Amino acid sequence: MTSPAYLTDFLPRRGTLPARSWARSDAPELSLNGEWAFRYAERADLPDDFASADFDAAGWGTIPVPAHWQLNGHGAPAYTNRRYPFPVDPPHIPDENPTGDYRRTFAVPADWAVERMLLRFDGIDSVGRVWLNGVELGVTSGSRLASEFDITDVVRRGEENVLAVRVHQWSSATYLEDQDMWWLSGIFRDVTLLGRPAAAIGDHWVHADYDHRSGEGILRVEADVPARVTLPALGVDIAAGEELSIPGVRPWSAEDPWLYDGELASDGERIRLRVGFRTVSIAESEFRVNGVRTLMRGVNRHDIDTDTGRVVSEERMRHDILLMKQHNINAVRTSHYPPQARFLELCDELGLWVIDECDLETHGFYPIDWFHELAGNPAKDPRWREALVDRMQRLVERDKNSPSVVMWSLGNECGAGENLGAMAQWARDRDPSRPLHYERDWSTEYVDVYSRMYTTQAELEVIGRGEEEPWPDADLDRERRAKPFVLCEYAHSMGNGPGGLAEYQEVFEKHPRLAGGFVWELYDHGLRTRTEDGREFFGYGGDFGEELHDANFVADGLAFSDGTPAPGLLELKAVYAPVVLDVTADAVTVTNRYDHGDTAHLAFTVRVELDGVELSSERIQVAPVGPRRSVSVPLAVADLPEGAVITVSAALAADAAWAPAGHELAWGQFEQPRASAPYAQGAPVIRTDGELVVGPARLDARSGRLVGLGDLPVSGFGPDVWRAVIDNDRPFSWAPKEQRWRQIGLDHAHVRTDGVAVSEADGEVVVTSHLGFPGSDLAYRVEQRWTASPDAATLRIVAEPIGAWDIELPRFGLRLALPGELDHVEWDGYGPGEAYSDSRSAVRLGRWSASVDELQTPYAFPQENGNRAGVRRVLLTGGGAALEVTGHPAVDATVRPWTTEALDAAAHPTDLVRDGLTWLNLDAGQNGLGSASCGPAALPSARLLPGRFDYAVTFRLPGRD
Ligand code: GAL
Repeated sequence: MTSPAYLTDFLPRRGTLPARSWARSDAPELSLNGEWAFRYAERADLPDDFASADFDAAGWGTIPVPAHWQLNGHGAPAYTNRRYPFPVDPPHIPDENPTGDYRRTFAVPADWAVERMLLRFDGIDSVGRVWLNGVELGVTSGSRLASEFDITDVVRRGEENVLAVRVHQWSSATYLEDQDMWWLSGIFRDVTLLGRPAAAIGDHWVHADYDHRSGEGILRVEADVPARVTLPALGVDIAAGEELSIPGVRPWSAEDPWLYDGELASDGERIRLRVGFRTVSIAESEFRVNGVRTLMRGVNRHDIDTDTGRVVSEERMRHDILLMKQHNINAVRTSHYPPQARFLELCDELGLWVIDECDLETHGFYPIDWFHELAGNPAKDPRWREALVDRMQRLVERDKNSPSVVMWSLGNECGAGENLGAMAQWARDRDPSRPLHYERDWSTEYVDVYSRMYTTQAELEVIGRGEEEPWPDADLDRERRAKPFVLCEYAHSMGNGPGGLAEYQEVFEKHPRLAGGFVWELYDHGLRTRTEDGREFFGYGGDFGEELHDANFVADGLAFSDGTPAPGLLELKAVYAPVVLDVTADAVTVTNRYDHGDTAHLAFTVRVELDGVELSSERIQVAPVGPRRSVSVPLAVADLPEGAVITVSAALAADAAWAPAGHELAWGQFEQPRASAPYAQGAPVIRTDGELVVGPARLDARSGRLVGLGDLPVSGFGPDVWRAVIDNDRPFSWAPKEQRWRQIGLDHAHVRTDGVAVSEADGEVVVTSHLGFPGSDLAYRVEQRWTASPDAATLRIVAEPIGAWDIELPRFGLRLALPGELDHVEWDGYGPGEAYSDSRSAVRLGRWSASVDELQTPYAFPQENGNRAGVRRVLLTGGGAALEVTGHPAVDATVRPWTTEALDAAAHPTDLVRDGLTWLNLDAGQNGLGSASCGPAALPSARLLPGRFDYAVTFRLPGRD
């Protein structure tokens, strides 16, 4: 038996109703979610007798709906980025085609006064063949698109109805659904029985424009049956189809998502309306909403939940939106398929600009030859046209009533081709009110905005100025220059990073042509799984026995798989702040970066602190600052002591729908300069048995290595250049460094002591060493100069490169291991989170404390993390011992309960085992992060070049606690 023919039809869908708007109405509905009978098979060519009403499914198991079967004990998840996990031979698919048969019964509620009944599937991955009472209704396709069947003639009232669905993992449609995500199958969105009363409203469309010149709202609601439109707050009561201008409406924006509640009522049904008046336009190469240039500070979001895959509960959707709002994100691209309709309702209500993207990606043709439009890429091959246009229609029809949707996107990474043009043409004709987006149309022949991904800050600047290289066709070039620019993906947040966000934002804010950018991406997609001994971790590609996979490329989010913000999200929050506070000793300049609203909703506080002690704290009055305006407010802080820090913070003055009063949106700091602490000096050098004692420091007399501080043993002491490679350093990155680093041998440093000179008169020990790497002539000459007072020892390090270095260093610093009892850290410097040379916007000056455990960031693929920047003083305590280290003036510090090497070797956080020591790195610097795992490297200014280093730290034993 071969696979059923519909699986290789270019458009497998059949028997479904024309797409229409998502609606909430008083017409009766019955959820068919719940536990269904389920049978799993590895192949698709099975008899379909299970669909008959009298089939005996007693031997079957059950499965929840909605769910993916791979996460419910059948088959396994598999992750590939762009490769199809089977031979590319469209429209053919493998014989091995996991197939799930579903069955359930239902009864139509006796009180339903309806004329027709529909069955709606909000999402089946990839196709579902549907029978009711043994009668075939048709086939769904378009995994993330809704499908409805009219079951009026088949459904039985007063009896049990048997609903049967056969779902296949693979179909021809899989060629159109090659998004970078897990392959997960099944009925994964809601199934609903819809009762349709006589005169019910089939489809409706709310057109609610806003004229920013007159302040009028222009309302017209289309309906396919006679109906009335009411919006009580505006006194509106008109017939469907009638247009009304309403003076003085409050417009909708992501900043102020004002919705007017109302109703669309026919004789048979009442649909709830939530009307947001807003107009999207493009003028003078600007993206405008309500007449105003609007800057999207966005992220890409997939539907993903670590336990349920693309089954995303309402609670999780709300969580995601609040997470975005609370981190100053004002826009979302629904990469790369429409989310559930409920998600858009929440965006309407809570306020996000949405680029709603079609369920379409054919990236797997890229490794073949997609740019040359060969090998049957569906964007080009006319046999796929209908399927592509069908997807666009279903996107637009379902979501057309959402004010938050300000752009339609044709899909992602399908190369170029006329079928995209056909999609665009259809969408433009149907809905001229929203611009069209698609990234791979660099000519912008089909679309209204010029869009790219992963350009550098420098190229963004060029595009912002409208000075990009001309497109070969002069007409297209002229048209493109008149279009706004969207950076639909940037700052790839895989592992530790991204770096360089602040520099991107500076460019976005500067050029009105730039409509904004969308960081890739909100979440890691790790699936919660367990080690054999039951410890939890987030699985990525390869953890589920896949034949082909793309490893941890699926873990590239600003937040971890369970929704916990990663440091990148905190950095983004600071960079996306809607107000900027520039603080000096006597004033704060408040710059409003909202496009639509003023700052009246914010409360401003000024706090002065010295070494962690609050000196004063007060609210200040800042008269509302209009959009894109600045105001300077004097600060009355008298007699600021050296080292005192003024922090001005802007927080919500009252509860908002997305965060409570007091939620901080932005802050700025000023520090009164202070002198660096003096070096410890004056204590003699004492020679004891094999040791040189300089104040509290004990050095091995032969090697000059630090072996103890007072009675604290020190091991593993020496200069250090290695970091556990981050994803941005790895070989697949756009700026790979790992291979060259390992080739030099930076991960295997050898330190040779060339001399230990004791100057008893000056109380100084000078240790000269050669830091080299096996097989390489690249090296550093490192001089360590020790001086001390009775209770403190200062180490100054002067390091000079030897040889023709051709690559930046991972880090340069000192490493030492202390007893593991020292497990608590307090520091003065930047915190509370980690920071790097190109990711420092989220940290602020203060006194911070954390356990060593809390200083570790659990990236799904372990890598360098936890660097605390600008540390002036760090105090390690625990087990009755303490050690204080002071920088002159500051160092970067990393503290961890395992070595860099162990961190580097781990594949999952569960591989990391404490080794009984507390490892401390005190660095002159670390290389920047960049986002080269898919994008540009760290900016030159953030790179740690192999130059001269000269810095100092002082160790002190504060005495026992
Ligand atoms: C882009 C693509 C995304 C994702 C990203 C890398 O090219 O559009 O879906 O794959 O790269 O994580």
